[in-house]
Amino acid sequence: MGMLVNTRDWIDARFPLTKMWEEHLSKYYAPKNFNFWYFFGSLALMVLVLQIITGIFLTMNYKPSAAEAFASVEYIMRDVEWGWLIRYMHSTGASAFFLVVYLHMFRAMLYGSYKGPRELIWLFGMMIFLALMAEAFFGYLLPWGQMSYWGAQVIISLFGAIPVIGDDLSLWIRGDFVISDVTLNRFFALHVIAVPLVLIILVVMHILALHEVGSNNPDGVEIKKHKDENGIPLDGIPFHPYYTVKDIVGVVVFLIFFSFVMFFVPEGGGYFLEAPNFEPADPLKTPEHIAPVWYFTPYYAMLRAVTIDIGPLSAKFLGVIVMGAAVVIFFFLPWLDRGAVKSIRYRGPIFKIMLASFVAAFVVLGYLGTQPPTAGKTTMAQVGTIVYFAFFLLMPIYTKLDKTKPVPDRVTG
Ligand code: HEM
Repeated sequence: MGMLVNTRDWIDARFPLTKMWEEHLSKYYAPKNFNFWYFFGSLALMVLVLQIITGIFLTMNYKPSAAEAFASVEYIMRDVEWGWLIRYMHSTGASAFFLVVYLHMFRAMLYGSYKGPRELIWLFGMMIFLALMAEAFFGYLLPWGQMSYWGAQVIISLFGAIPVIGDDLSLWIRGDFVISDVTLNRFFALHVIAVPLVLIILVVMHILALHEVGSNNPDGVEIKKHKDENGIPLDGIPFHPYYTVKDIVGVVVFLIFFSFVMFFVPEGGGYFLEAPNFEPADPLKTPEHIAPVWYFTPYYAMLRAVTIDIGPLSAKFLGVIVMGAAVVIFFFLPWLDRGAVKSIRYRGPIFKIMLASFVAAFVVLGYLGTQPPTAGKTTMAQVGTIVYFAFFLLMPIYTKLDKTKPVPDRVTG
């Protein structure tokens, strides 16, 4: 013990070890009323670590070349010791990441966590979300299956729909006139180092911003308003050991679900690993039905919902704009919401109805994006797109009109 204490003191004289431990864990006071929804930040962190570790092991046997990529993945699945497990952890991890992050974002919407003073936490979060989408897109090309190839083809062609610069831009992204070995190689570089590095940096900034202002909570009241004589929030408890232990419960429950999927349904019914991706990429054979993985389908449905040209602007380009706007509009949430309260517990009925419609539209669009388009489905996607945007664009009006309830002074337990 004495030696440990001495080592700690030796380090502390040279590096802020204890200081950082206290600031971010043992003396970081978090509201005592966190609920289920507060598991998802730490789960997202865990999945990020899982993806990086399994990704490193996959990289040890994967070959980033058009001639060898597909076979190297089969080799990992059949011949590398525990290779199948590492690959399924990584592919299941990708879907789990989006599931956890979507729930994490929804929590922020439930409790108004994006509102002042937490705007920067939210903005860093949105940058993380963009980076995560890029990471998933680049990663999906790597197995060089039919859906890898044609999915990338569809997405890159979207950039081609941009007037004037489109053709040059898609050429620049591919690095070739078609998706080729060159494209695969650069996507590999982006997937294994460039984007993960950005993600890690953004996550650090996200948590630094969080610890600067302090966590919100299901009541949406600021615990820093009521402190004891030592400056400790009366409704706060030290993150460690209380929430480190509580988060372990979340991790265990999560790992039970995760293991179930990984061991029994790793393809997730064709939603996590799509059937055409078990065939090698063939530039001469378009799959019958191209659909992105489930986490992109709400946006894909909005892209396809735009069916008319306006003047010189093609429907495809307008679809790209709508799809891009559907993501970008989230950045503005802290300024679109003019409500007097943060938490849904004290919001009025209009907000509750709008949020419920938004979630319904998101889920229905997600389903429609997996389906081949029909006239009826396109109409549904158009309605869904309108409901989706109405949630944001009308927000400055309805959050003002909505009759909110009085917010308690202290958290309610
Ligand atoms: C790799 C992805 C992410 C990681 C590792 C991560 C991590 C965390 C952690 C550990 C917390 C504190 C625990 C919690 O409140 O659950 C947190 C809080 C928060 N995150 Fe994230 N996050 C990620 C993505 C996002 C995204 C995409 C958004 C939104 C666009 C977001 C918005 C927020 C907000 C607003 C808070 C404060 C919540 C509150 O205090 O009520 N995060 N994040």
